[in-house]
Amino acid sequence: MMRAIATTGRRNQRGSIELAREAAARLEIEFVDRRDRAIEELARAYGVDEIIIAKKNTLRLLTLDERGEVREIFFHPSTAHLRIKALRLGDGDRMIDAMGLTEGMRVLDCTLGLGSDSIVASYVSRCEVVSIEINPLMAYVVERGLRTFEGDGRHVIEAMRRVRVLNADYIDVLRAEPADSFDVVYFDPMFRHALERSSALNVIREAADHRRVSVEAIEQAKRVARCRVVLKENARSLEFERLGFKKFVGGRYSPIKYGVIELDQ
Ligand SMILES: C[S@@+](CC[C@H](N)C(=O)[O-])C[C@H]1O[C@@H](n2cnc3c(N)ncnc32)[C@H](O)[C@@H]1O
Repeated sequence: MMRAIATTGRRNQRGSIELAREAAARLEIEFVDRRDRAIEELARAYGVDEIIIAKKNTLRLLTLDERGEVREIFFHPSTAHLRIKALRLGDGDRMIDAMGLTEGMRVLDCTLGLGSDSIVASYVSRCEVVSIEINPLMAYVVERGLRTFEGDGRHVIEAMRRVRVLNADYIDVLRAEPADSFDVVYFDPMFRHALERSSALNVIREAADHRRVSVEAIEQAKRVARCRVVLKENARSLEFERLGFKKFVGGRYSPIKYGVIELDQ
């Protein structure tokens, strides 16, 4: 069993208990009656550092770092929304350029995280995007958000619904996929040297898997992709060289860069 529990907010809104129970059953973790206990108190009492909270029909994942500081992860398509808005206004998107993505292409996103890149890819490709996340709690919270989030922006909602989440280690998925089964395989690993300004990712720091991408994963990705393998990293990262990326997309002054391996020529 994972070291995690599922519970509700302090004030039980209608439906929260069912939602927390459903999450606990699906994730095979314990459901706990919150009563009036603080998160830190629950974490201590149950010896866990990850807690799923059901509140107002949404799920949140709370993580505690080594200093006991609480971070809250929940699904929200705001970043994807802004990028899609820019695309609709005719502005570019570096990730999309790096992927060479157009309508009808199939993307395998090896690193789902909070799902923004998957949503933008799905918006452009108009196709299902398959996205892999190794942390089962995060995969569940984001998958449920992609499936149920309602708001304005029909294009964003449609793109969200086309993202299919797999809770797995991408190396296992890549090894099992037949050759040429996707057009693009994409990696956005946790940066080797975290950029402090990237606060969106600070939130998932505790929950995320920080292992570096292996040479084997890139070799497998080259077999599985028909057109391109793309890696997003810190602009000055040595990972590009280690993994054999020689072509790049990224603004001159941008702190991040996309490495591209082209396969179809
Ligand atoms: C930097 S985040 C991705 C952010 C994402 N592109 C977005 O738009 O929100 C990297 C994610 O990949 C996940 N990850 C790392 N190694 C993995 C692996 N071997 N298999 C699947 N997911 C992995 C981490 O847990 C983390 O959630």
